[in-house]
Amino acid sequence: MSNEEEISKRRTFAIISHPDAGKTTLTEKFLLFAGAIQSAGAVKSNKIKKSTMSDFMEIERQRGISVASAVMSFEYHDLKINLLDTPGHKDFSEDTYRTLTAVDSVILIVDSVKGVEEQTENLMKVCRMRKTPVIIFVNKLDREGQSPFDLLDEIESKISIKVCPLSWPISRGATFKGVYSLHEKNLRLFTANQAVTANVVDISDLQSVALDEHVGNLLAAQLREDAALLSGVYGGFEKVQYLSGEVAPVFFGSALNNFGVKELMDTFVEIAPPPKPMAADARTIAPEEPGFSGFVFKIHANLDLRHRDRIAFFRVCSGKFERNTFYHHVRLDTNLRFSNPASFLGQKKDVIDEAFPGDVIGLYDRGNFKIGDTLTAGENFHFQGVPSFSPEIFKELINTSMKGKQLEKGIQQLTDEGVAQLFILDDGRRKVVGTVGLLQFEVIQYRLEHEYGAECRFQPLNFYKACWITSNNPTQFADFFRSKANSIGLDKDERPVFFVESEWMLHHYVKQYADIDFRLTSEIHTDPLAKMAGI
Ligand code: G4P
Repeated sequence: MSNEEEISKRRTFAIISHPDAGKTTLTEKFLLFAGAIQSAGAVKSNKIKKSTMSDFMEIERQRGISVASAVMSFEYHDLKINLLDTPGHKDFSEDTYRTLTAVDSVILIVDSVKGVEEQTENLMKVCRMRKTPVIIFVNKLDREGQSPFDLLDEIESKISIKVCPLSWPISRGATFKGVYSLHEKNLRLFTANQAVTANVVDISDLQSVALDEHVGNLLAAQLREDAALLSGVYGGFEKVQYLSGEVAPVFFGSALNNFGVKELMDTFVEIAPPPKPMAADARTIAPEEPGFSGFVFKIHANLDLRHRDRIAFFRVCSGKFERNTFYHHVRLDTNLRFSNPASFLGQKKDVIDEAFPGDVIGLYDRGNFKIGDTLTAGENFHFQGVPSFSPEIFKELINTSMKGKQLEKGIQQLTDEGVAQLFILDDGRRKVVGTVGLLQFEVIQYRLEHEYGAECRFQPLNFYKACWITSNNPTQFADFFRSKANSIGLDKDERPVFFVESEWMLHHYVKQYADIDFRLTSEIHTDPLAKMAGI
């Protein structure tokens, strides 16, 4: 098969949701329908229900042994689908943000009872920034949820995307009857825990009495009324608007009951995009280019203490990856080759000889990789769009043992993995660790002690956010540096970062220092949407 044909067969995506909306359930149903697993219960939930460090370490240890759940590849309708897993715990949402940089589209699950929750809003900001095509699955229709009109309104207002329902629910909860496919003009009748396909009845004309026979007069009348309203409010589905990330098609169903899942999958394979061009600092890299390239978006520590190796998850962006071939590590300006690159088929991990754009491969690493690193066939460029987002919680790292060197090495390596962000203040005398959640501090402390033999404690700091600062006005910049010397540090790539104590102060400085650009991500986006999204 030619490279072009291989590329056209790939669909690389992630399922995102707030914890408990049904991601594990839907993922499992996808794998079951595709024949990649044989029975329910095979996909392990990566939720950390009790939010304790020991639960987290246990899950990490299991995942370290079987990293297969990080990427699930399977065939469906003659396509090669790569489904990238995202962590279920909100403290690890930065890991999810980065995974979103390696996909070409997403399926967003919204719980019909709870509506759009906070974590979903943040994840969708990243999708909007990258114009990632989104399909929405409203789940748990078998429960007494909100009205579908209210849900769609909430989705549009909270995640700033236009929606276009392709199916419409007939009642919900105990009286849930099924959905009417506005797209295919048929009725899909719901039965709890049904087999793969629903009972489908063609009803091209909603005035037909067949509708009343199947769902009863009252619900038939309600559907007719809803449908009349819908066409006026949402209009027809245009694939180009979906592909540009402007409009999200919406499906309703119940993952637990297999209802609506097959339709979702079939629409996904019909409309989801193949690997897209990726922005690099020098130029945009098209997947069809002959030269190989790609980037690391996630690093997973192998928590086996006997060997401190790690797996770097690498998205192929162009050309063809081949085993045992030297590639250029742009940041280190060195050439590396990989003798055991892994791909992930279903739950099995295999050594592969080649990989194509859209594929995600696991590269065994002994400390050469940082998140965001680019490999190429020789050219010098870096992929963009693997930004760091401002942490929410900041603490100073205090060495409490004599093992300063181990502590230094440990904190450098853990932050290369993306467990947390490290900032240096006072010419290297102070180290500040920033995270999204409190759990990471416990994880870092535990891993520093057990993997590096170094002890530390954390001193809380009262910062609100870290702002990456740039300016075209050297005088104003120097003035700001002088007056804020104690609150300015460097990130790991030596970019200046200002630690601001409150949102109010941030607004104040933005006004006072008009020529300084304060950003809550490490990358400069020319896209105005990124500004709008507030990240
Ligand atoms: P997550 O990965 O997004 O965190 O969610 P997960 O799939 O684990 O689902 C969270 C809970 O919601 C699970 O119940 C699951 O069975 C349930 N669920 C998923 N889809 C549906 C649905 O369509 N209808 C209903 N009624 N429930 C659904 P749990 O009791 O928390 O877990 P478990 O003990 O069943 O594993």
